[in-house]
Amino acid sequence: MSLPNHGANPMYVTQALGIQHPDNVIDFSVNTNPYGPPSCLKSALKSGALIEMLTSYPDPEVTQLKSELADSFGINSSMLLIGNGAAELIFLIANVFQNKRVAIIEPAFSEYRDACIAYGCEVTSIILSPPWILTYEEVEPYLQGTDLLFLCTPNNPTGVTYDEKEIVKIIKKADTTGTSVVIDEAFFDFTMSQKTFSNLISEYSNLVILRSLTKMYAIAGLRLGYVIGPPILMKKMKERQPPWSVNGLAQQVGLQLLQEKAYVKETVAKVSSERERVKREAEQLGFSVSDSSVNFYLLSEPSLQNMDHVMKFLIKKGIIVRHTYNFNGLEGNYLRCAVKTKEENDLLLASLKEWRGTC
Ligand SMILES: Cc1ncc(COP(=O)(O)O)c(C=O)c1O
Repeated sequence: MSLPNHGANPMYVTQALGIQHPDNVIDFSVNTNPYGPPSCLKSALKSGALIEMLTSYPDPEVTQLKSELADSFGINSSMLLIGNGAAELIFLIANVFQNKRVAIIEPAFSEYRDACIAYGCEVTSIILSPPWILTYEEVEPYLQGTDLLFLCTPNNPTGVTYDEKEIVKIIKKADTTGTSVVIDEAFFDFTMSQKTFSNLISEYSNLVILRSLTKMYAIAGLRLGYVIGPPILMKKMKERQPPWSVNGLAQQVGLQLLQEKAYVKETVAKVSSERERVKREAEQLGFSVSDSSVNFYLLSEPSLQNMDHVMKFLIKKGIIVRHTYNFNGLEGNYLRCAVKTKEENDLLLASLKEWRGTC
């Protein structure tokens, strides 16, 4: 069975499984804001105010957005680089570290590995076991001799947030072993705690923070992400980035989205409450749900060897969930499901109940 490497684009998963694509699908495999983009984006698109952004060359330095973001972190613009989604920035980091030794705390977003392999890095996996608690002791033995460490918190695909003290210990030790630490905070916006490591950026020259705007603002098609880190790394990444990589529409929209603090707050409250409800109800049906703090979670059924049967059952009903075969440490034993709207989550729960009735 050769399944797609990413969520979203559900036609690829039905095709791979040889299942007739259902007429109506709900895509639980995509982990962007279930309520869509803020209304300011829809109004701007409707008014045609952004048309000029499509016809002119964008600012190759992304000056305005960069400066707004740098101000919001209280850092100099030289410590920030904007990308065509965080994915582009992951590839630029891997490019700078080409042929070096990289460690990845897994299960994690598969693009860290893919990018590092593409640039000839030697990749070591540090695989955490469920319930995916990160400790300094587990990581410390790998730091000596490692040039770059990737970790993601809150983590994709588990949704688990790692302990702050353990991460700080890792950063400190990594500073002494010459290891750069990339902390991917792509899903930070969805957390209630709003815990970030960006406040340590000026203290540790080995620290790099990655963020995505595509998740919270549901602009996966437009694409926007940024990275903060030491100016020398930002400079090297910029030299490797194609010119006009961040399109004009994304630059303009990004500025508007940064104002949408109330929308973020409202989304976090709604997503958290739905996530906890779905967890409760799925657990009542005998499923296990990971201890997620964001807009997706891992679902499993303790008595099953893998989740293939549940996955196919749901997909045939148009409920597209994300397989976990390409996540080291998960190997298909879980399904990743997004937290969607109440009505959509109810449909997932009803289908899980129906599956339970069939076995
Ligand atoms: C953990 C993580 N980091 C980065 C990305 C890439 O985000 P973007 O859509 O901004 O390229 C993703 C996308 O799924 C992700 O899950």
